[in-house]
Amino acid sequence: MRTRPLKVALLGCGVVGSEVARIMTTHADDLAARIGAPVELAGVAVRRPDRVREGVDPALVTTDAAALARREDVDVVVEVIGGLEPARRLITSAFEHGASVVTANKALLAEDGSTLHEAAEKHGGDLYYEAAVAAAIPLVRPLRESLAGDKVNRVLGIVNGTTNFILDRMDSTGAGYGEALDEATALGYAEADPTADVEGFDAAAKAAILAGIAFHTRVRLDDVYREGLTDVSAADIASAKRMGCTVKLLAICERAADGRSVTARVHPAMIPLGHPLAGVREAYNAVFVESDAAGQLMFYGPGAGGAPTASAVLGDLVAACRNKLNGARGPGESAYAQLPVSPMGEVVTRYHISLDVADKPGVLAQVATTFAEHGVSIDTVRQQGKDGDAWLVVVTHSAPDAALSATVEALRDLETVRGVASIMRVEGE
Ligand code: HSE
Repeated sequence: MRTRPLKVALLGCGVVGSEVARIMTTHADDLAARIGAPVELAGVAVRRPDRVREGVDPALVTTDAAALARREDVDVVVEVIGGLEPARRLITSAFEHGASVVTANKALLAEDGSTLHEAAEKHGGDLYYEAAVAAAIPLVRPLRESLAGDKVNRVLGIVNGTTNFILDRMDSTGAGYGEALDEATALGYAEADPTADVEGFDAAAKAAILAGIAFHTRVRLDDVYREGLTDVSAADIASAKRMGCTVKLLAICERAADGRSVTARVHPAMIPLGHPLAGVREAYNAVFVESDAAGQLMFYGPGAGGAPTASAVLGDLVAACRNKLNGARGPGESAYAQLPVSPMGEVVTRYHISLDVADKPGVLAQVATTFAEHGVSIDTVRQQGKDGDAWLVVVTHSAPDAALSATVEALRDLETVRGVASIMRVEGE
């Protein structure tokens, strides 16, 4: 074993960074044996130097992240600061000064991953980012490496723990969205500002990253259709139950049937209770991958938290260090396919639509005609009377999303339709 240690610069020492530092210390011997050389912290960049960080030598702490990232003796820079800047500048500078980079920064990768990959390529470094998607659950490496010889057609998953917790509570207790969010906040799952989670931005960033790797195509955050779960009501959940379904916030990345384009989207959807994703409870994440040769694979586990995220970072750190030691490189960006990303309107899906209608002759026929006029075929219809009016619950067969949403607009214009109470996509069959 080489005795001269490999040096690591840790940028950020919050929930994830402090776990990375702790595991590097407590597992130092094992890490050295696995890498083939000892690995040690060269410095830890923080915003608040006065805060006590157990297990971190205060002599290593600095507020000058830029100077640490460009130190010539650093082999690997670990970026766990998050956000676009200064993370992008620091990572680029690390590559320029000869380091490899391990990052957990999903926002930056989804927004501008190509800049990072290009800097890695230009300067001969590695860019690893397992921790950016679903923390400890191996997804990036299986897609980039294990399935590199296969053809992935679909990635379907629950990639946000906070929203899964909220929907699970709504499903199991009958609580409304606000009450379930309050519980998620009290238990520390939801942040004080839960926007990134509940509006689907976090899941959309992960979808962009997964779609990019799965389809060898650059997919950016803006390419991902996004709907959060703030409009999901207790009535939607009850309606899903009556259909033998539950509601999940899904990230879905698909190759079109003709193979010429891809789509990526995040939205709430009903899935049948028999689907493996329906059994994913609390704040757990799970992702289904469907490929030509492997068939269906499912990855499941904790998708957030300091230690699970640090586990993914450490795995990447070992890989980057091994490569440094052997003068080798890990996989670079693979975007050769350059498939166009189609808009949501072209996605083929199914709708569950709940209508508040007048209960009189011809209403059902009028509603059915509206579907037919837009080329949307009805799968099931259920009617329930309510004081002279009626609830009509229609589930469609698969149709382009644009046709389905045009149908809903036309239904809203019908005099006999008093209101469209809920619309939800149905997936997983
Ligand atoms: N806030 C995310 C979640 C974890 O709830 O899953 C970080 O991506």
